[in-house]
Amino acid sequence: MKVHVVSKNRYIGIVSESADPQSFKFVYSDDVSSDDYILGLHQKENISNYLFPIFDDLIPENKDKLDAIKASHSIKNTIGILLHLDNIHGSFEFYRDVKDIPQLNNQGIIQFNDVKFEILGDYAYPEILDDYNLVELPENNYSTSENTTLGLSGYQEKHAVLKDDINHVVTYAGKTQSEYFIKPFNIDFSNYNKAKMRFNTYKKHYYPYLLINEHIFMSLAKDFGFDVPYNGLIKDPNYNEYHLIVKRFDRYRTTYKFDHHTVNSFLGNIATDKYHTTVTDIIKGIQEKISSDDMLVLFKFIVFSIIISHGDLHAKNLSLIYCSNEFSDKKMRLAPMYDVLTTNIYHSSQNRNDIGIKVNNKLSNIRSSDLLYIAEIMNINNITAKKIIDDFCNKFLSSFEAHINKLPDKIKTLRIKASDYKDITLSGRYAQYLNNRKAYIEKYLVEKPAEKNIF
Ligand SMILES: Nc1ncnc2c1ncn2[C@@H]1O[C@H](COP(=O)(O)OP(=O)(O)OP(=O)(O)O)[C@@H](O)[C@H]1O
Ligand SMILES: [Mg+2]
Repeated sequence: MKVHVVSKNRYIGIVSESADPQSFKFVYSDDVSSDDYILGLHQKENISNYLFPIFDDLIPENKDKLDAIKASHSIKNTIGILLHLDNIHGSFEFYRDVKDIPQLNNQGIIQFNDVKFEILGDYAYPEILDDYNLVELPENNYSTSENTTLGLSGYQEKHAVLKDDINHVVTYAGKTQSEYFIKPFNIDFSNYNKAKMRFNTYKKHYYPYLLINEHIFMSLAKDFGFDVPYNGLIKDPNYNEYHLIVKRFDRYRTTYKFDHHTVNSFLGNIATDKYHTTVTDIIKGIQEKISSDDMLVLFKFIVFSIIISHGDLHAKNLSLIYCSNEFSDKKMRLAPMYDVLTTNIYHSSQNRNDIGIKVNNKLSNIRSSDLLYIAEIMNINNITAKKIIDDFCNKFLSSFEAHINKLPDKIKTLRIKASDYKDITLSGRYAQYLNNRKAYIEKYLVEKPAEKNIF
C-alpha cells in the first residue's frame, strides 16, 4: 500500500508498507532537496521494519480504538490508518492518490514566538463552560469511537471541536479544520457502570474526574509560569462528569500550522518506548537542539512534575515545536505543556511514581540531590537549581489549598469511591493529597536549615 504525504503545504513523497515480512519505505519526491529532509528520514529512500516514528507519533495508541477504526474501514495494515486521520498533528496531510491532493499554495511565514500568546489563548482558572452547549460529540461509551480519528495520538480519546464564543456552542468538528479538541471523560474510568463490581476489582482502572485533575494541574502549571494552552471544563449533558476542551498550540488562526514532535519521536522512538526513555536520555538527545533558556524551563518542569507527582510524565508528554512554519526551518523550541496532572490521587501502579520516566535511575523518592544531578547535566548551576527547587516547593505548599478552593462547590463536592463502603469528596481527596505531598517535600526536597552549633 502507498500513501502520499504532504508536509507544510508541499508534496514531499510516498510512504509504503509491504507485508511478510512487514516493512516500511519512505521515498522523497525528486524536487525535495536533501537539506529539507525531515526528522528521521535522512535518505532519499528510507527503509524500516517498523513505522517511522514521525508517522507513528500520529496514530492513536488505544488498541481498542485502533481495531475499531481498522474494522470500520477494512484496514489490514498500519499506514492505512493515516488516510483516516483528521485535523492532524502539525502540518501533515495524507492522500491515497496524487489526484486527490488539492492545490497547495505557499502560506505566509510566521514565527511561533511572535504569535505565541494568541495561539495559547488566556483564561481565568477555573474555566468552566457552564453556559456553553455541547453538541454532536460522538456518542458511544467515550472509550472507543469509530466516528472520528483526530490525528493527535496518545491513549485517551480526543475529538476535534469548534468553539463558538458568540453563540456559546461547542460542536464536534469532524473533518472541518479546527483550533480546539476535546478530551472526553472515559466512562470506563469513572463512577459509572460499577454498581455490581467490588471496589478491589476496578480500583486500578479507576480515574474519576480525570479531566478536572488535568484542568487543575494545567492551570497550576500556568500559575508557575509555564506556557500552557487554553483549557476549560465542560460538563457532559448526560453524566455528572466533565470533558476538557483544549486549544491547539500547533494552529494559528486555524490555517497556519506549526510542526512539532514528541520528545519520544525526536529521539527516534515509537509509542511503546515512551516510558523507557530516561530524563538523562532526553536531556542528552535534545541539548543541541534547544536553547539554554528552554533547558532551564525543562528543568523547572521536571521539578514541578515531581512536586505534584506527575506519574504519567513520559517521553510523549513533552514536545519540541519548530520556531516557524517555513518549509526549511529546522530550529526548534520546547513546545507548550500539555497532559499535566497528578497520578497520586489514584490507585493505579503509577500512583506510587512521582514521574513516568527515570530521574537518576528513580521513579519515586526522588531527592533534591537527584534533581541537582540532572541540573548539572543540563549545565544549570547548582545555586540556581537549588533556588528553583526551594521556590517551587514553597509556592506549591502555600498556594495549592487556595487553588482547589477556587473550584465551585458543585465540583468540590463530587464524590470519589474510596472502598466498597466509603466515598470521599473531590476536595477531601485533594486535601489528603496535599498532606502527602507536604510530607514528601519535607522529607526529600527541601533542605532543613542546618542546626546552629553554639559550641
Ligand atoms: N494543545 C495541543 N496542541 C497541539 N497538540 C497537542 C496539544 N496537546 C497535546 N497535543 C499532542 O497530542 C498528543 C496527545 O495529547 P495528550 O498527551 O494530551 O493525550 P493523552 O491521550 O492524554 O496522552 P497519554 O497517552 O499520555 O495519556 C501529544 O503527545 C501531543 O503531541
Ligand atoms: Mg499524553
